[in-house]
Amino acid sequence: MKANPGGQIDIKAVIGRERLIQNLWEAVEQQSLVITAERRIGKTTVIKKMRAEPASGWVPVFQDLERCHSAAEFAMVVYKEIHQFLSQKGKATRRAKEWFTAMGGTEIGGLFKFPEQAGAHWKDVLTRAVEDLIHENDAAGSKLLFLWDEIPFMLANIRDREGEQTAMEVLDLLRALRQTHGGLRMVITGSIGLHHVLTSLKDKNYSNSPVNDMTAIDVPPLAETDAIQLATLLIDGEGLPSDDKPAAAKAIADEADCFPFYIHHIVRALKIRGLDATPKNVAQVVASQLVDANDPWELLHYRERIPIYYGYDKKAVFLILDELAGQPGIASISELLAMLKGSSTFDDKERLLRILSLMERDHYLKRDENGSYHFRFPLIRRWWKLNRGM
Ligand SMILES: Nc1ncnc2c1ncn2[C@@H]1O[C@H](COP(=O)(O)OP(=O)(O)O)[C@@H](O)[C@H]1O
Ligand SMILES: [Mg+2]
Repeated sequence: MKANPGGQIDIKAVIGRERLIQNLWEAVEQQSLVITAERRIGKTTVIKKMRAEPASGWVPVFQDLERCHSAAEFAMVVYKEIHQFLSQKGKATRRAKEWFTAMGGTEIGGLFKFPEQAGAHWKDVLTRAVEDLIHENDAAGSKLLFLWDEIPFMLANIRDREGEQTAMEVLDLLRALRQTHGGLRMVITGSIGLHHVLTSLKDKNYSNSPVNDMTAIDVPPLAETDAIQLATLLIDGEGLPSDDKPAAAKAIADEADCFPFYIHHIVRALKIRGLDATPKNVAQVVASQLVDANDPWELLHYRERIPIYYGYDKKAVFLILDELAGQPGIASISELLAMLKGSSTFDDKERLLRILSLMERDHYLKRDENGSYHFRFPLIRRWWKLNRGM
């Protein structure tokens, strides 16, 4: 297996995740799911594996929505996918197609020319296309599962181009479809929470009502044994010399906090620099990658998104992270409040609680049994210190 950080990996090159995927299939029997987890942790890989190896009785449809910029584009992308899907089976998107033709759209050899007014009718297109597919599935006794990757990015695009109202309407329509069709399931993923995309959600105290009929599931880093296995396969695949492979693989897994993306990066860096796989070399490449101005591990967003998402509270967030990055690395709510009072004009416990809970949802922090906070990922803490010159 070759190092391929961030690339399309073959389904056979997906390590671990069996238990998680099994849980997802079981959960989806009951409800639709929202998977939010940090960027590059492996969400897309998990849902692509679900598409490639569906549980029996399920028909998954996967779509990457990150680059959709309007509600109409979303509707069309779904329509096209369903159209292709059904035509492969010799079936037609009947209702959607009737509508499409009636509106003056044409299709020649798989190339679509959408009707001029289609934009205004995105709800019809989406509803009919989805219902056509549900209809076929009902007839075949199978269950339909949409795997929609990076919905929050799409909603942010729609919000910026068409306004928050339209973005909300997309979520409302999806919810209405779920409610009308009891057997329909959606698994939506996001690297950022929906609450950051829609301020009207924010105003309602961060409740996520358009998805409160869905179960939230977290994708953690790999289990340690899987992380070590991945590191071992990559050391072998890249032909890295090693006089103690198990020790090197363990060092890679540890330094990467078991994030598969960073494991791929470490092995690639060893390969490019012509280094043997040894714990010492692993520590060396990680140290240099964490301060690399090109940000190969894509960590800068942990800092850059703070002013965007936390707005007025950004100063408090920086102070909290700086505090937790230093020693002892853990603090109670009252300690954090005292620190904020000492370093700024911040003096509002309720607001602090809200900020902390958001920082937890955004994967910065974790709470221990005593209610104290610390960085969720040691690696991010280490990077934060370096990046902030601490
Ligand atoms: N289970 C896995 N086994 C091996 N490599 C993985 C696995 N999951 C993720 N990766 C690696 O991490 C990269 C990022 O994963 P991806 O699924 O795209 O993350 P996300 O969608 O959460 O941003 C992939 O390109 C691949 O190199
Ligand atoms: Mg992804």
